[in-house]
Amino acid sequence: MTTVSEIMGKLPFPPDKKKPKHIRKNEYIDSIYPPAAPEFSDLTRIIVSTDRLFLGTYQLAPGGSFNPPDLHPGDETYYILNGTLTQQNAVNGQVIRAYEGESIWMPREAWHKAFNFENEILRILFLIAPKAWDEKIPPDDYPHGDDIKEYKGKHNSKYDVLPPLSKPTRIGTTDDIGRWPIDGPEGRKPPQLFYRIREEDKLLNIFGPDNPMLIKFFVSNDVMHMGEFILPAGGKGPRLSEVDSHNGDCILFVIDGPVTVYLPDTQEAFIVEEEDTMFIPEGTRYQLMNFTAKPIKAIFGIAPRL
Ligand SMILES: [Fe+2]
Repeated sequence: MTTVSEIMGKLPFPPDKKKPKHIRKNEYIDSIYPPAAPEFSDLTRIIVSTDRLFLGTYQLAPGGSFNPPDLHPGDETYYILNGTLTQQNAVNGQVIRAYEGESIWMPREAWHKAFNFENEILRILFLIAPKAWDEKIPPDDYPHGDDIKEYKGKHNSKYDVLPPLSKPTRIGTTDDIGRWPIDGPEGRKPPQLFYRIREEDKLLNIFGPDNPMLIKFFVSNDVMHMGEFILPAGGKGPRLSEVDSHNGDCILFVIDGPVTVYLPDTQEAFIVEEEDTMFIPEGTRYQLMNFTAKPIKAIFGIAPRL
């Protein structure tokens, strides 16, 4: 049995011992969240927790929700693996929905609560950067049931009344890398709105003139970057991406695979199957390889800098 507190900041390795690792899905750490409230918990699998980022999946059965609302000292981005998410901000009263293949971004210290109102399992891949929780897991000063700002909420009057808000409409370019879907510091100001990133809201880019790979950013700001790498099949050898490395830890969670990860400096190769994760520490040079007959896709999470 491993508790969240035991692995915080040192999964798969502590900061001074980081090295690349293929983390197979049967190695993910099983837990429930919140750990002391099984009657109102989600099923969490923790994948990576370093000093830079926290990665995991969680699952809610039909009708399910977790309680209390959650909050982190870092930003959090979701990718919807299965099902439909309904996400409530407990303090500003915003409720958004996101569907399979979509993403949402939540600024740090925004109270959030997930619901599954559907007839299928909801599964989320979540990335938090830099830190998921301080001393208390979860934080204990949350708005209790009656305190949530919602339809006929008993204590709505204690919250600010928001002006009418407009949906953002932005056209993405390469210069929006680092400020998508909103500039980080701007998005963290009150009322700490959530952003839904639909397929058409992902910030598209291309990496590599000779071996182009498609990149779809969900979020790219001053503390985290999350999105999809899509490498097509085909070429005179295996399809090979350009060499990349990051000023931060990187995780690759494979959606369509296997994705072969090659480290040119050590000539190591890792065959990363679907739902497995590759952990690539700060500064490690890597390439993606496609030996299959179809495009391969991995969700990337990089924190803090690309
Ligand atoms: Fe959260």
